[in-house]
Amino acid sequence: MKKYISTVLFSLINYCVFAQYQQLVIPDTLSGTQFNLVLKDTFKQLKSGNQTITGGINNHSFWGPTLIMKKGDLVQINVINKLNDSTTLHWHGMHLPAVMDGGPHQVIPMGGTWKPYWKVTNQASTLWYHPHLHMMTMEHLSKGLGGLIIIRDSIESLLELPRTYGIDDIPLVLTSRRYSTTNQFIVQNVAYGDYMLTNGTPNAETDLPKQFVRLRILNAEIERGYNLGFSDNRTFYIIANDGGLLNAPVAVTRLKLMVGERVEILVNLTNDAVGTALDLKSYNSGQPFGYPGGEPNTTGAFGSLLNNTDFNVLHINVVKSTANPITSLPQKLENNVYFKSADAKVNRSVAITNGNPGGKPFDFDNVSFQLNTINKTVMLDDIEKWTVTNNNIFGHTFHIHDVEFKIVARNGVESAVGDFESGWKDVMYVPRNESVTFVTKFSDYADELHPFMYHCHFSNHEDGGMMGQFVVKGNRADVNRKSYISAKPTLFPNPVKDKLNIQFGNSDVKVYYITILDLAGRTKLMLPQPNLQHGLDVSQLQPGVYTVQITDELTKYIHLVKFIKQ
Ligand code: C2O
Ligand code: CU
Repeated sequence: MKKYISTVLFSLINYCVFAQYQQLVIPDTLSGTQFNLVLKDTFKQLKSGNQTITGGINNHSFWGPTLIMKKGDLVQINVINKLNDSTTLHWHGMHLPAVMDGGPHQVIPMGGTWKPYWKVTNQASTLWYHPHLHMMTMEHLSKGLGGLIIIRDSIESLLELPRTYGIDDIPLVLTSRRYSTTNQFIVQNVAYGDYMLTNGTPNAETDLPKQFVRLRILNAEIERGYNLGFSDNRTFYIIANDGGLLNAPVAVTRLKLMVGERVEILVNLTNDAVGTALDLKSYNSGQPFGYPGGEPNTTGAFGSLLNNTDFNVLHINVVKSTANPITSLPQKLENNVYFKSADAKVNRSVAITNGNPGGKPFDFDNVSFQLNTINKTVMLDDIEKWTVTNNNIFGHTFHIHDVEFKIVARNGVESAVGDFESGWKDVMYVPRNESVTFVTKFSDYADELHPFMYHCHFSNHEDGGMMGQFVVKGNRADVNRKSYISAKPTLFPNPVKDKLNIQFGNSDVKVYYITILDLAGRTKLMLPQPNLQHGLDVSQLQPGVYTVQITDELTKYIHLVKFIKQ
């Protein structure tokens, strides 16, 4: 009898473990040059029982649409904040003006619309967007707010690579959550979730065709690193790092992907029989001390059911191939010319330090992040070499905005840089008691007022002050601009229905920022460096009286003018 019960129990457990796969969610795509993103509080059925309160974008109840952009396009985004909270939206990995970057200074209040725009200059790559409000990033990211960005360009398009989104080119956003007894996400003091979510899908499975398949993988965790591989230990091929294609594929059987990092891999399914299955897994057991997610505990702030174990990321069912399958591995990809150590004319070092006494656990150079402190000033067009040293007890990541960089050394040794990280990067892993050196160039966008961030991408560390900011200082041409808004601008027509024009006393002024507030002082529209040629579109505003704050580019003086919206 006892044996019978345990057999039944065992098969029940088996049933639960093996038969509860859910179809992997593939986020919708938006493409073109105009994107509308509505951030909202919502809910989703993630576990049996209660639904979970989540954050989503547009029609998504967790995460958001994948934005497909083309290199060379001028893209314009309407970020509409319908959350019951302020937030920001940052374009991780994108090279753009600081004022469009969506860092902690670009706060979008509840009910506000932020309208950044920029010319896409990044090469074909997988980037992402996510909230970045200081001390709230972990909470907003944990809700599920974020999305992928796929950039296409003429080089990548000509390669024989899988690129049919959702069919042979699959986005995979990896994260995990801990749930309360009522199925709500626990965010406070939780570095690691207990249950895997792949594109917001618990126990995800998907069909993949019997051919070469491309996986675009983002580690969107709070803190956990992934050590990815397949259940049969097959070789797979890295074709891209954070910033785009490598020069040639790199063959591996395991791949570490730390928080914020992206990788594109090709998996050869041509030799798999239709009807067979395999698993993409994270082999996190037996990692060295200091590896995020290797801790032994199963509970508590730094414990998790997934810690120090090997667990499933995606169950893959092999199905028949598509009409025009990719059946071979390209030998050559890009022609990246990388920076070398010797290219740098400025050397900097950043130390990962234990938080100052009584402060937060970690910081940089013994200084905790302050919104009003600029930690570094970089000169436009300078090539710089940064060495990040971690004398801490734990591994961390390091991410910098504005640029993609080339890792040139680990612990001072050039040959210690892994092939798997040989491409353009914007996040790197810095294990305990090690240093990493990268070289990058700060081109195109100078702005002495608005900073870019660098930080640990563990959002609990970042929120806790492990972040700094730098401004890029312009050259003479910029400094020489002499014309500023000399008198109060006028608005016409006033009252206005949809297009509001702004007239200045002098002609060659530049506007740095426009904010439109209602009579209660609530920010309704935020327009960084607006293009005023065709007037401002105010059609979405409710009828009423509004104040326009116009910030002059040169002096940063703010002019206030009122108008009536009909
Ligand atoms: Cu992914 Cu400062 O950000
Ligand atoms: Cu950290």
